[in-house]
Amino acid sequence: MPGPALFDLAGKVAVVTGGGRGIGYGIAEGLARSGARVVLSGRTQTTLDEAAGRLREQGLDAAALTSDVSREEDVVVLRDSVASLFGTVDILVNNAGVNPIYRGIEKTSLADWTNIVGTNLTGVFLCCKYLGGLMAERGTGSVINISSVAGHVGLKRSVPYCAAKGGVELLTKALAIDWAEKGVRVNCIAPGFFETDLTAGMRKNTGMSSALLDRTPLGRFGGMNDIAGVAVFLASEAAAYVTGQSLLVDGGWCAE
Ligand SMILES: NC(=O)c1ccc[n+]([C@@H]2O[C@H](COP(=O)([O-])OP(=O)(O)OC[C@H]3O[C@@H](n4cnc5c(N)ncnc54)[C@H](OP(=O)(O)O)[C@@H]3O)[C@@H](O)[C@H]2O)c1
Repeated sequence: MPGPALFDLAGKVAVVTGGGRGIGYGIAEGLARSGARVVLSGRTQTTLDEAAGRLREQGLDAAALTSDVSREEDVVVLRDSVASLFGTVDILVNNAGVNPIYRGIEKTSLADWTNIVGTNLTGVFLCCKYLGGLMAERGTGSVINISSVAGHVGLKRSVPYCAAKGGVELLTKALAIDWAEKGVRVNCIAPGFFETDLTAGMRKNTGMSSALLDRTPLGRFGGMNDIAGVAVFLASEAAAYVTGQSLLVDGGWCAE
């Protein structure tokens, strides 16, 4: 039945990796405002505590648990902590990501590759395996993987990041097929260029910033209101027949 109830997440437990700032925080706030109990995760306890505090000040339900998604032992502890504190996971947002370098492959070290792939792709694998595993056991849930326009097209001087995000896109489709029979939906959100720490360098560079905006049909960078509702949709009953998809939230960047 159409209506706001379709988007209601009351009582659902949502884990958002990289939830302490940027897109992850924006999504966590959106899920919490729709009724979810959100668990913010990341590597920096102080950032997470402050972020959870800001949500609680709004009367929202938020907790903070540290975990490095690239480390299997951390993700296992996160899974165990969430299971013992909340009993389950209904919504998993695999958002933690890094993109620290812009250079050609000749100047890209194996350590650069391992770092970028380790967080952006292996992190998604580990969180799906352990936290998503709780959903598959229970027979219900929604996984939302944050990929990028860089998972759809190649970007200059970004080989490891594009490889990782392209991997997230196909991990999503493959897992959606495997887990359809277990009642777990698996989708991607592929953002364009958003106003976060990740893009601060390129947005400060006037030439790069105006080139990006000229190339974006909607003519502006994305803000948190542009993405939170998309995550609420994918997490909710409104998307009950949507799995294995990637939703580009890019102001039309990939339409050109
Ligand atoms: N901003 C954009 O324009 C854009 C565009 C396309 C895709 N994306 C994707 O959107 C996601 C969020 O990006 P953002 O722009 O919000 O970035 P951001 O502001 O730099 O935030 C990144 C978040 O990820 C966490 N994180 C990084 N490495 C981690 C690790 N190993 N384990 C756990 N948490 C980790 C960070 O917390 P700690 O440092 O405390 O761990 C932080 O909360 C990323 O996957 C990114 O690739 C962003």
